[in-house]
Amino acid sequence: MTDFNEIIASDKKHVWHHITPHEIFDTNDPMVIVSGEGLRVRDAKGNTFLDATSGGVWSVNVGYGRTEIADAVRDQLVEMCYFAQTAGSIPGAKYASALVEKMPGLSRVYFSNSGSEANEKVYKMVRQLAHLEGAGEKYKIIFRERDYHGTTIGALSSTGQSERRAQYGPFVPGFSSFTHCCCYRCPFGKEYGSCNIECAQDLERAILEEGPDTVGAVVLEPITAGGGVIPPVPEYFPIIQAICRKYDVLLHIDEVVCGVGRTGEWFGYQNYEVSPDFVTMAKGVASGYAAISCTVTTEEVFNRFKPAESDRLSYFRDISTFGGCTAGPTAGLKTLEILEREQLLQNVKQVGAYMLEGFDALKSEFALIGDVRGKGLFGGIELVSDRKTRAPVPESVAIHIAAECARNGLLISRTNRSFSELNNTLCFSPALIATRSDIDEMLGILERVFAKCSTSISA
Ligand SMILES: Cc1ncc(COP(=O)(O)O)c(C=O)c1O
Repeated sequence: MTDFNEIIASDKKHVWHHITPHEIFDTNDPMVIVSGEGLRVRDAKGNTFLDATSGGVWSVNVGYGRTEIADAVRDQLVEMCYFAQTAGSIPGAKYASALVEKMPGLSRVYFSNSGSEANEKVYKMVRQLAHLEGAGEKYKIIFRERDYHGTTIGALSSTGQSERRAQYGPFVPGFSSFTHCCCYRCPFGKEYGSCNIECAQDLERAILEEGPDTVGAVVLEPITAGGGVIPPVPEYFPIIQAICRKYDVLLHIDEVVCGVGRTGEWFGYQNYEVSPDFVTMAKGVASGYAAISCTVTTEEVFNRFKPAESDRLSYFRDISTFGGCTAGPTAGLKTLEILEREQLLQNVKQVGAYMLEGFDALKSEFALIGDVRGKGLFGGIELVSDRKTRAPVPESVAIHIAAECARNGLLISRTNRSFSELNNTLCFSPALIATRSDIDEMLGILERVFAKCSTSISA
């Protein structure tokens, strides 16, 4: 029998928790999750929670306790656990072809093991292309304010979140930003319907300012996730695509959160009219049952790396050790199979719309809610202290609400020390198997918590 008190004590003493100020453990025990089934998890103290985060960071998309994934991974590991991706593997080959079937126009898959790493692969490819096809000038990458692309220094250099970056500089040269696309806080002071989608046009300004001959790619989340759940307006991506084509800039879409079903399409970008040159993905690929990420590109980009006789270095000289683990593509294949068999994209569209309607209803009840955004089973509630001025609540309010939800048996997430002022969005991403009754339970808890917190905030 596991002694849970001992586990909690060991955790408290030796584990360095991610993105967590450890002072809270002076007065609280860390939460240690010990089991899960469907959308529910249980901690070492016996508390159960409805998990509206898919594992804290939008990953466990098909839910906990899927023995068929665990069995498939086990069988594969016994047969062949690992060989470097210089060689192929049965699950790798099968997964790559199943994946690109869902991604018309894209055909090559490069395996690695985290979202940050998948993005770094693109940055390396872009830089190498600049050398192969010029004197290395067209290497710069433009990113968007409020987007997040990962934890490694290159990925963080392309992240538009000031507090995530603070104290980790200096950053890698060659990355610069253009404006975010959050209508609720339009950087141009415009209203959707009477604007010229200036937020998308701003990409052209950024390219011209850097010099089009120096810009190799732009990287964007299809829907900004951790930066506040910000879906763009429908006109947005066609404008971005046209600007990229005009200046011969490659378009990289970071699907680490939206990829593999979260928004009701296989990929977030498929909600919009756009054809990316690179797509990266991680989190939901194997639904959290194994670590895997993919960098997917076109045959056209792949062919630009064909060895040239005059240059011994012209192929992509990159390796990711754990890109050769077979657990990832095995769990990835099972995840795709489950999504198809259980018609989960359909479920995400229907139950996701129901969740967002529920958030709208909460908005009409509580002045604390300034804006509701999302797509599919991916939602955000932005909190304000004054609806007229749209003044954001301090981060402490979002922390308090998330903690109060947890006390009531609901796990939610939030913008977490990402910006100097806008850490005020609650984020929701239940597993793609969520039912209306799960959403009702979630909305019921939220309503009680908002009622309690609204009173204490206005008191
Ligand atoms: C959009 C996006 N890209 C990249 C990453 C980095 O992924 P990883 O933590 O697997 O490196 C994240 C992580 O939250 C993310 O949200």
